[in-house]
Amino acid sequence: MKVGIIGAMIEEVTPLIETFRRLHCSISQEQLGGNTYYKVKIGEKEVYIAYSKIGKVHAAITASVMIAHFGCEKILFSGVAGGLAKDLKVGDLLIASKLCQHDVDISAFGHPLGFIPESSTFIQADSALNALAHKVAKQMGKNLKEGIIASGDQFIASESKKMWIIKEFGADAVEMEGASVAVVCNAFNVPFCVFRSISDSADGGADVSFDKFLESAAKVSAQFTLEMLKALGYALEI
Ligand code: ADE
Repeated sequence: MKVGIIGAMIEEVTPLIETFRRLHCSISQEQLGGNTYYKVKIGEKEVYIAYSKIGKVHAAITASVMIAHFGCEKILFSGVAGGLAKDLKVGDLLIASKLCQHDVDISAFGHPLGFIPESSTFIQADSALNALAHKVAKQMGKNLKEGIIASGDQFIASESKKMWIIKEFGADAVEMEGASVAVVCNAFNVPFCVFRSISDSADGGADVSFDKFLESAAKVSAQFTLEMLKALGYALEI
């Protein structure tokens, strides 16, 4: 089996690569399309890991390469997000039920916000992977929330923009990559799920909070991703 793990920033994948180094897994690297792909061998199975760089276009490149070039059969996204829902606090872990692009707007032609003809406003994450995630969380005794993730090429750091995204999309969290990975995986029929740990509240203090909590929140999501790999049959002694 080949699973691809994508983060947007180096901080989001470093805890994973450090763990595989510590476990003396065989790791090789390949450069492609401006990114480094780490191939990790765990028994008979392989994991591909890369950080895409920030934003929907970069994440779409990485997801496409993982699927079409490396042959990944499942994609897990691990990283941080801004919390929109009131009950989401820094360090909480959220899994996407479905994802949308909050910055898509062709409403001038009568289309709903976020909608692209021949596509859809929302793309559902894989129900089997999400169900597995809830099982893993239960075993870990960890509180895992599930909700709508809105992605866009903007760092949201204002109460008014935050409220607009909640109103228009009913979103629980905001980030800059998940929906584009969803579009790619959906197009290739590859099951995916998106984990995000909260780094900020997407309000006026989001930039300061993001800088302060990026590393710790990224570790929460990476730790959970490792447990998911175990549940997917990877022989990891962590
Ligand atoms: N990722 C983490 N926090 C975010 C925010 N406030 N806006 C967009 N992406 C984010």
